[in-house]
Amino acid sequence: MRLQINNQIYQVESGNDTPLLWVIRDELGLTGTKYGCGLAQCGACSVLVDGEIVRSCVTPVESVVGRNITTIEAIENDPVGKKVVAAWVEHQVPQCGYCQSGQVMAATALLKQTAKPSEEDIAAAMINLCRCGTYNSIKAAVQELSGQKVETL
Ligand code: FES
Ligand code: FES
Repeated sequence: MRLQINNQIYQVESGNDTPLLWVIRDELGLTGTKYGCGLAQCGACSVLVDGEIVRSCVTPVESVVGRNITTIEAIENDPVGKKVVAAWVEHQVPQCGYCQSGQVMAATALLKQTAKPSEEDIAAAMINLCRCGTYNSIKAAVQELSGQKVETL
């Protein structure tokens, strides 16, 4: 089957029900998207499909044929994603970094959908797990991007 990822067409050989995450990482070598739980719980595997957040560990690859998939490798080609990455750098969000591609994807999806999310919107959307506890920095970065007063600790 053919997939459109990061504005490129890839011919993939994986079976129809193979999780998108394995196709992205193992077959195509786009390893910026991470495996955490494999159970749709942590968000490390998040990618954008037609601009919306999707947990690729539980997404059969056949369900995204013909759709526009974006991974962390190309997120800075998206104007919103580029701003998110800049805010992540400014706020020095990442610690070990493992969860951060998923966090950036989640923030990008939120801000593409709602340019000025409320505090409640941010809390509802930014639910990916981070074992390093970067939640306060994530919140500050998203608040700044949405024009809100940044809460400092
Ligand atoms: S690896 Fe997909 S949600 Fe955890
Ligand atoms: S930065 Fe280490 S798990 Fe989030």
